[in-house]
Amino acid sequence: MDPSSVQQPADLDLVRESYDRVADNYVDMVATTGLGDIRAQPWLRAAMDVFADVVGPVGPVLDVGCGPGTVTGYLAERGVDGSGVDLSPRMIEHARRLHPECRFEVASSTDLGLADSSLGGVLGWWSLFNLPRDVLAQVLSSFARALIPGGQLIIGTHVGDGEVARTECYGGIPVTWTTYRWQPEQLTTLVVQAGLRPVAELRLPADGPIGPGVVQVARRES
Ligand SMILES: C[S@@+](CC[C@H](N)C(=O)[O-])C[C@H]1O[C@@H](n2cnc3c(N)ncnc32)[C@H](O)[C@@H]1O
Repeated sequence: MDPSSVQQPADLDLVRESYDRVADNYVDMVATTGLGDIRAQPWLRAAMDVFADVVGPVGPVLDVGCGPGTVTGYLAERGVDGSGVDLSPRMIEHARRLHPECRFEVASSTDLGLADSSLGGVLGWWSLFNLPRDVLAQVLSSFARALIPGGQLIIGTHVGDGEVARTECYGGIPVTWTTYRWQPEQLTTLVVQAGLRPVAELRLPADGPIGPGVVQVARRES
């Protein structure tokens, strides 16, 4: 296998169809509850502000698994040259409608064909947890190669052990996907193996609105 290519998950079509089905409810949830909106979560917003300040001057920023583009739009407001990609065409329809100032495309994190040293920043903001563990390792390596030296990756994801097979989500909508939970230390190991240097971590407790979760930031050194 070409070392720069990424294995495609067997359930990719099921995951895409599932997110297409939940997209309208997801957008409604963000608008009505603030869940999924960093503006309503001060510590997440602070992390994203620092990320924007650091990576904006380095180069363009790609929000991978951007959903309806909430974070992409936030970064654009802060002057970052940001764009988003998502597996779900319905999510991308919402993103284009809600944030016409940003560029959005339908694409899988596993098939982005990113050019080497082309990005100042990459986000995997609660959008990488459906990837099998070995596939995530390959995706993180592709992100690391795509970063310009000095550029950074920010990941947010669910913390825990093992996998959960989800059959409904976001208001009882039927879905078919696996949530791969990570312990922060396991994720750090993967990030380091991808060739990045960890620079910050924020842990979100289980009894908080989106916990248990973790945000990790890592930098490409050279
Ligand atoms: C929980 S939502 C988060 C969306 C967005 N990052 C946010 O914070 O609002 C997860 C998103 O990941 C996307 N996703 C799942 N697997 C993906 C893949 N292989 N490639 C690209 N996007 C993917 C889904 O379509 C969905 O929009």
